[in-house]
Amino acid sequence: MNKNENVLPIGIFDSGVGGLSVLRAIREQLPIESVLYFADQIHVPYGQRSMEEICIFSEAITRFLLNLDAKLIVVACNTASAAALLFLRNTFPNISFVGMEPAVKPAAENTQTGVVGVLATPATFQGALYASVVERFAGNVTLLQDTCTGLVQQIERGDLNGSKTRTILESALNPMLERGIDTIVLGCTHYPFVIPIIQEIVGSGVRVIDPAPAIARQVTRLLDSSKNRANVPSFGSVQYFTSGEVTRFETLLPKLLGETGEAMKIFWGKNGICS
Ligand code: DGL
Repeated sequence: MNKNENVLPIGIFDSGVGGLSVLRAIREQLPIESVLYFADQIHVPYGQRSMEEICIFSEAITRFLLNLDAKLIVVACNTASAAALLFLRNTFPNISFVGMEPAVKPAAENTQTGVVGVLATPATFQGALYASVVERFAGNVTLLQDTCTGLVQQIERGDLNGSKTRTILESALNPMLERGIDTIVLGCTHYPFVIPIIQEIVGSGVRVIDPAPAIARQVTRLLDSSKNRANVPSFGSVQYFTSGEVTRFETLLPKLLGETGEAMKIFWGKNGICS
């Protein structure tokens, strides 16, 4: 690969297909950037795993993406950000990372009722990152949290609007509606793919915050400040990698992104990713 920094790709990873919601926003804002996307589907869901385990996976995936010349790493997973972002920044001090944190700040600034719902995985709620966001920004609001058990797996199966997916969301959202929420924060990158059902359940009066566009703006700022924006005359390429089943991943792409793509199978060995 050409070592000229202006054609180097952005590396993005998630436990599965959730980070595609972030990839979509990045490609909308930065269409000429090339992207490497890693879905660690053999280990999905991350949400019930230990912080240590998620750190091990995140470090190996970061090394894999850096070996392919990624110029910046987007941890497109709230769970991996909660467990490993600090660790990754310490382990790779010369690399720029962009991570996810639940968008409690804009929710708290704009809520009229003072009651905000947050949907995220158990690991995200348990992490220090969430505690710090709550402490810094949620002083005057009531946060209602739900882990939407099973929703990540439904989205991994491509079930975006079946009855089981709807039931999971109704059980999370109806009690929140009864308590007066006017804002929902999506604290898991899989969840933007079910925004249409969420909006149907909560109604148009409730604002649903997808953090992906803000993450794409942060990527743009970082590339600008380091003068690393691509300057090629064509659209960037996207390369997909999955540690799960290639055909399953490829079947999901049209459903989630509205386009086809090919993925490469990646194997985990005892000492990390085998390349
Ligand atoms: N997309 C993920 C997140 O943002 C991962 C969910 C999971 O693997 O449990 O949290």
